Amino acid sequence: MKRTGGSDAAKRRAGEAAADRVTDGQVVGLGTGSTAAHAIRALGRAADSGLDVRGIPTSFASRQLAREVGVPLTTLEEATPDVAIDGADEVCERPGGFDLVKGGGAAHTREKYVDSAADDLLVVADPSKLADPLAGPIPVAVVPDARPVVAAAVRELGGEPTLRAAEHKDGPVVTDDGNLVLDCAFDGFDPDELSAALSATPGVVEHGLFCGLADAVFVGTEDGVEVLE
Ligand code: 5RP
Repeated sequence: MKRTGGSDAAKRRAGEAAADRVTDGQVVGLGTGSTAAHAIRALGRAADSGLDVRGIPTSFASRQLAREVGVPLTTLEEATPDVAIDGADEVCERPGGFDLVKGGGAAHTREKYVDSAADDLLVVADPSKLADPLAGPIPVAVVPDARPVVAAAVRELGGEPTLRAAEHKDGPVVTDDGNLVLDCAFDGFDPDELSAALSATPGVVEHGLFCGLADAVFVGTEDGVEVLE
């Protein structure tokens, strides 16, 4: 479930602090969500002031925002991201890194391959996202026809899948890539084991567990930014 509750000011501090880490000539994976949006806006201002930066968006929404604020865009065919800046629904420290739950915005498929391709993944979050252990549910993008078999496989793994419904119209959420999302609740799980099991399930396009991928987490607060790395 998408966690809400962090203030926009805290999200802005996190996004701007991570964008500050971007240096001249870098290619940046542009994450999705309200916190990553602050980083994209900051990169737009930096580009306006002369920073040579190019972005690779992880969703239609991020692409649209990047265009509006003037971040020049490129693609994975043309460039490899030096760094990705992305939000998260949950962040849990693990030995030597972090585990994340992502996909509250249904963009986790593109986010995972763009974030994985980057040399560094900077996560931007507010304190409401910090969790120990991760609780879920875990968003799982599925090929539409495969929904019943993936739902059965999730139940076999001990989970309870719920088809994500669109907020402002009838019908399910459809991702940018035309897939459906099952939000899968588990009563406690090992992130590495569940990640491997979901990845091995036929019909699953991508799931929202990002194990050990993040290099740093920028946690915006009411009066500053704490950087966990
Ligand atoms: C989208 C995501 C987002 O990064 C995540 O939902 C966090 O969003 P926000 O910053 O708006 O809380 O994973 O798929």
